[in-house]
Amino acid sequence: MSLDHPLERIIIIGSGVTGLTVANLMRTEFPRADITIIAAETPTTASPSADYASMWAGAHYRPIPRSSHQLEQEFDMALRTAEIMKEIAKVASEAGVKLMPGVEYLEDPPEAVLSLKTGDMYAGPDDEFRVLEQEELPLGVRWGCEYQSYCINVPVYSRWLLDRFLASDGRVVKHRLTSAAEAFEFAEKNGLGKVSTIVNCSGRNFDRDGKVKIIRGQTVLVRQEYGKTVTRQNHDGTWSFLIPRPLHGGTIIGGTKEIGDMEERPRPQTRKELLRQSVKYFPDFVDSVEKFDVVKDNVGRRPWREGGYRIEVESINRDKKILHGYGAGGRGYELSWSAAEKIVALVKQATFIGPKL
Ligand SMILES: Cc1cc2nc3c(=O)[nH]c(=O)nc-3n(C[C@H](O)[C@H](O)[C@H](O)COP(=O)(O)OP(=O)(O)OC[C@H]3O[C@@H](n4cnc5c(N)ncnc54)[C@H](O)[C@@H]3O)c2cc1C
Ligand SMILES: *[C@@H]1O[C@H](CO)[C@@H](O)[C@H](O)[C@H]1NC(C)=O
Repeated sequence: MSLDHPLERIIIIGSGVTGLTVANLMRTEFPRADITIIAAETPTTASPSADYASMWAGAHYRPIPRSSHQLEQEFDMALRTAEIMKEIAKVASEAGVKLMPGVEYLEDPPEAVLSLKTGDMYAGPDDEFRVLEQEELPLGVRWGCEYQSYCINVPVYSRWLLDRFLASDGRVVKHRLTSAAEAFEFAEKNGLGKVSTIVNCSGRNFDRDGKVKIIRGQTVLVRQEYGKTVTRQNHDGTWSFLIPRPLHGGTIIGGTKEIGDMEERPRPQTRKELLRQSVKYFPDFVDSVEKFDVVKDNVGRRPWREGGYRIEVESINRDKKILHGYGAGGRGYELSWSAAEKIVALVKQATFIGPKL
């Protein structure tokens, strides 16, 4: 097939978790293709912007039950990704992925979770899913559960993906493009040759797709460590969560979900509130605000898209195609491997069918 042709050239825009995962998977699927990432920011960027979402994630895996989900496809994508993440945790502990229990507390549970029973599959096969007993629930919580999840130290993991790609002959060019289509010209002008396939994993920065919105997230990184990830959803719509970062990366205390809020600086009042809530809801972690060993405040913009993750082909003409992989919202890590598999499948298809698409 043509992708095995040594001259096949592919450009991936973006080196967030989406672009990096696609790049790694392509390296194994298309061993002879020439693959370049073009990205404004990469895991080696010293002070990443709020727009580079991958640097600001927790990140944990928190399933959203199939039945309560308007985008059913994501449930399966999360299961598939978990399968691969578990394998990475097992064979490459330096990647910063670690299996650990996940706990959820809901003050206001939707119907869909109330029907779940201990033993149901929630996060994957053998996830030890268990609905908590009434007497195990903290004050104010009406429903809770426990299961096997995983957490990711995101700076470490992103760097690991980047290094693996570079070590397998991948190329990374730091450059800010004005549009995805500009990548075709940029490649020719900069000696990368004629490129027929561009994969658009740009998060939100081109700002062309009116369906892309941002959801601001502010969190606090503290030095203290914890052995599980806990999420509490409150009646008033606020969230409180703890996400340990493996390999002694401390713990993320979160977090806000502020739609369309462009404030790039951390708000001191928000930090205070997050720490106060952590003490109130998770006293077995750190039992007074004064005791927190704060490393830093984080602000990131989740690249959310109305209608969901966009994974599809757009044909510019006979021999120029753009494949999209953006709009992961708050789930870019936990959907990453499955998203990459879908994108790679589309590349294969697009290259086979060629002009007919
Ligand atoms: C507070 C917070 C908590 C989160 N927690 C979790 C979690 O627990 N689990 C989870 O799975 N997800 C979580 N997320 C979401 C996750 O961070 C995102 O879904 C994910 O990082 C999106 O990755 P991406 O690669 O699509 O985009 P990004 O990470 O935004 O990457 C975009 C890339 O494209 C490049 N780019 C953009 N525009 C241009 C341009 N014009 N020219 C060249 N390059 C360009 C950028 O430089 C960057 O390299 C969280 C996010 C936040 C903010
Ligand atoms: C590429 O991705 C961006 C999101 O960053 C989106 O706005 C845009 O419509 C996509 N396509 C093109 C051709 O730029």
